[in-house]
Amino acid sequence: MKVVVTGAAGYIGASTVELLLGDGHQVIGIDSLMHGGQSLIHLADHERLHFVKADVRDADAVRPWLQGADAVVHLAAIVGDPACRMDPDHTRAVNYDASVNLHAWAVEAGIQRFIFASTCSNYGKMEGDGFVNEDSPLRPVSLYAETKVAFEKYLFAHSTTETTAVVLRFSTVYGHSPRTRFDLTVNEFTKDIAMGRTLEIFGEQFWRPYCHVRDLARAVHAGLTYDLGSLTADVFNVGDTSENYTKKMIVEAILDRFPGASVSYVPKNEDPRDYRVNFDKIRDLMGFRITRTVPQGVEEIARLIEFGLIEDTEDQQFYNIPPPSYDEKPAREDRGPARRVARARQRRRVS
Ligand SMILES: NC(=O)c1ccc[n+]([C@@H]2O[C@H](COP(=O)([O-])OP(=O)(O)OC[C@H]3O[C@@H](n4cnc5c(N)ncnc54)[C@H](O)[C@@H]3O)[C@@H](O)[C@H]2O)c1
Repeated sequence: MKVVVTGAAGYIGASTVELLLGDGHQVIGIDSLMHGGQSLIHLADHERLHFVKADVRDADAVRPWLQGADAVVHLAAIVGDPACRMDPDHTRAVNYDASVNLHAWAVEAGIQRFIFASTCSNYGKMEGDGFVNEDSPLRPVSLYAETKVAFEKYLFAHSTTETTAVVLRFSTVYGHSPRTRFDLTVNEFTKDIAMGRTLEIFGEQFWRPYCHVRDLARAVHAGLTYDLGSLTADVFNVGDTSENYTKKMIVEAILDRFPGASVSYVPKNEDPRDYRVNFDKIRDLMGFRITRTVPQGVEEIARLIEFGLIEDTEDQQFYNIPPPSYDEKPAREDRGPARRVARARQRRRVS
């Protein structure tokens, strides 16, 4: 297949491009390279990859590349609540308006499958102690999730039998990819403990599902050929029901690897996002099974740090928000990584 991947240089995008090329597909990668292009350098001479440095909002730059493609995998976005809060208008323009345009261009080009990267954080705070599934109400509690929910709705309203849509609600990602991120729970906590730092955990009791970055890429791959039957669009949570964790459970998995590491818990009674997700649908309909679990992701990140393979873990390329200036006070939930980056920058200046 010829597959156009937007956000190709991102954390999930670069893993997805690797997987699609490895499976014999032709890939057109599109990315504005907000976080640099390091992640695709090792693939630059691949004969079935063409990369286009472009903004997904730019019709002239993007539209021609859709001609003759079989599928679009739309990953490009402003990703995460803190990054989206930084410039709400830009966030809406990229995450919603550009997605609507891209979809219209895909329909116009006769593309058969449009895959959209959505998020389980659309569920917000679940009611009761059970699990949410694809039919549960969506309660977006951030601009990020609002834009994702809005475009999901758009896709369900505008998909056709000619251009069918698969919406993938990803779990929170972890693990190594050509663009590893250290601003996501499992990777951040493991990195900090592996570096001998004390972890400060806010709200250890709240639930979320987690999925390895390469398993998400496998779900995208499965979505390319999944037979929707009579539907024009369908939605799948991506992950595994056994991979729902509280922050405390994640810390315990890390402490199994680093016994005696220093952790302090800061009580926090309210988190607007607290959800346990059921993943039966993707397992039963697509036959999707994860190949890695959180403890394996912990091991993977621990080794990256212990082997010294990443020279500067505080480098901006690993984060979706810039470090705060010294007089700027980040929101409470953003303080962890931001403060550490600030400290690291300070250390470098001093030395
Ligand atoms: N990481 C997660 O835990 C997670 C969870 C659920 C859903 N998702 C979704 O998966 C997708 C990929 O996330 P990620 O973690 O790889 O994020 P990422 O920030 O690493 O990648 C996003 C990529 O999109 C590109 N991009 C941003 N704006 C662009 C624009 N205007 N034009 C072209 N390219 C642009 C960036 O340069 C970046 O390479 C996103 O849609 C995200 O919302 C991620």
